[in-house]
This record gives sequence, structure tokens and C-alpha cells, in this order.
Amino acid sequence: QRFLGLSQGLVEVKGPGYIAPIQYANFAHNYYNFRFFPDDVVIMSHPKCGTTWMQEIIWTMRNNVDVHKAKTTPMKFRAPFLDMDFLKPAHLDYDSELLSQFTARHPDLDPMKEGIYIDHLVNTPRPRTMNTHLTFDLLNPDLINTAKIVYVSRNPRDACVSYFHHQRLIRVSEFIGDFEEFVEYWCQDLIGQGPFWAHVEQAWSKKDHPNVLFIFYEDLKEDILTQLQRLNAFLETNLTEDQLLKVAQHTTFESMKNSSTINNTAGAVSAGFFKANEGDFVRKGITGDWQNYFTPEIEKNIEAWMKKWNPISKQVPFKY
Ligand code: A3P
Repeated sequence: QRFLGLSQGLVEVKGPGYIAPIQYANFAHNYYNFRFFPDDVVIMSHPKCGTTWMQEIIWTMRNNVDVHKAKTTPMKFRAPFLDMDFLKPAHLDYDSELLSQFTARHPDLDPMKEGIYIDHLVNTPRPRTMNTHLTFDLLNPDLINTAKIVYVSRNPRDACVSYFHHQRLIRVSEFIGDFEEFVEYWCQDLIGQGPFWAHVEQAWSKKDHPNVLFIFYEDLKEDILTQLQRLNAFLETNLTEDQLLKVAQHTTFESMKNSSTINNTAGAVSAGFFKANEGDFVRKGITGDWQNYFTPEIEKNIEAWMKKWNPISKQVPFKY
């Protein structure tokens, strides 16, 4: 199969279940055996569905609305990303800070085998907030009965547009095509960390579990306070209305776009992760941007793709 442009290649991990860069295989057992604790909060999502927004919201809620710390501490030390070891382009250096911490902890171990980002999370002080784009069946089955999981999702048309920009932005994807070309891959489910519907399906089937909270990006956009109240109850953070208001103000699109601990495009360009002149990671932050991109032909393809993924695509009440 020809997956979306990536010279390292992508592989299909489990039937039609998950598409990942080939080096995922080196770490699959580390992920499956990764140990969760009852005070962990795991933000789970398909890429481009509001993960970073949720990281910022949940970290702030769980850390007594410490906005100063949020603005001065990089996300990797607040709500680390579990999957980075296999997403890191092979030709790029490891994060030097995390690598030196790994080497100090394990002078005899090979970071390429252990995974420095996994090790970083193992050593992150509890209570931990983390995020992953891995699905439930790639992680330890104990997860759902141990930790709290917040699954954030977004209508697939907007997720598709956002992913298109992301693929243009990140150096590892090597994708330089236009939106029409991207949609062809999307509709054939040939894009990393998807397929979208298979990802959503796993979480949707577990949405009524007491340890799972399913949140829509569109609901966050429409009425953030209602969603913060849901989170407050689910996470048992006991924040006051005033504190929730402060969280809402701290996590607006403008605030996150201007935050150097979240939207550091220049830093990511110079570290070799992002291409220059392809925009920002925190890009536009609206619902319905797909209407600026979809031609009737694209809409036809997307509808056929949704039909292919019946009944799950009919079940999940995304607001389009
Ligand atoms: P767009 O590309 O449509 O702008 P993820 O974090 O899962 O990769 O999702 C990224 C998407 O969330 C991007 O969407 C980004 O702009 C959007 N986003 C990030 N912070 C946001 C915020 N505070 N409010 C609204 N959207 C936000």
C-alpha cells in the first residue's frame, strides 16, 4: 500500500485498526505494558481533534489553575505525549533535555530501544496527565479500569482539513500535495494514526464506562463552561465557577496561539520538526472550516467514505 508521503514508511498494525510509522513495532510492547495508575488522566484522540486544547485545559484544572506555571513550563513537562518515540523522525536528534535525563537514569540502556519519551512518562511525578493517539487495544487492557480517560473528537471534515495542514507542516510527513490529494489518502484510510472511524469507534463503544468521558471539539467551541463543568465533575477537581472561568480564559484560541509553551512554531522549525512558512500548529481553531475547502467532488468522496464506515459514522452525533 502507498500511504501518505513518508519515506520511512507506515505500517498497518492490527487489521484495519491502526496505521503507524514502521518504528512503532520497536515500541509496541512498551506501550502495551505501560503501567497506568488510578490518579492518571489520559487524553486520548485521533490527531487534530483538539488534543492540545484538552491537554492545556486538563493540566490547568488539575494544577490549581496555576496559569503562571502553565505559561512558563513546556507541555512535555506538564502533560507529556506518550507516543513520541515512534513519531520522532529517524534523522532527527532526540529532545536533548529528555535524552540527558534518560542517560542519567539508565547509563547502560539504549534509548532507541527503551524509548526516552516513554521513560520520561514513567518518571513523571504523579498525578500525571498525559496524551496519546494510540487506541485502547494498543494499550494495556487495565487502562480503562485504572485511570480516567478523556476522549476528544471532532467532526471528521474539520479534522481532515486540520490534518492536511499538519501534514504540510511537519517535516517527517514529506507531504507537499494539495488538499484534493490529501483527501484521496484520507478517504482510503492511508494516513498515520488513523483510520479516523476505527479510532473513534473504540472510544465510542466505551463512552458509558465510568472512567471514560467523551467530549466533542464542537461542544467546547460552543459552550466551554458546560464542558469544563463536565470535566470538573469527572476529574473530581472541585474547582469553583471563578476558577473554571479562569481556565476558560487561559485556554481560549488566542491565548493558546500566543503561548510559547504550546505554539512555538519558530522553535519547532529550528529543531527540524516543522517546515518554515507552513503556518502554525495552533492554526485557525474554528468549526466548519471544511466549507472553505470542500468542492462537490470532495464532498462526494467524503460521503462515500462515511458510508463505508457505517454504522459507526451514523452513530456518533458529530455536528457538521
Ligand atoms: P485547526 O487546524 O482547525 O486550527 P490537535 O491538538 O489534536 O492536534 O488539534 C489541533 C487543532 O485544534 C487545530 O485545529 C488547532 O488550531 C485547534 N486548537 C488548538 N487550541 C485551540 C483552542 N484553544 N481553541 C480552539 N481550537 C484550538
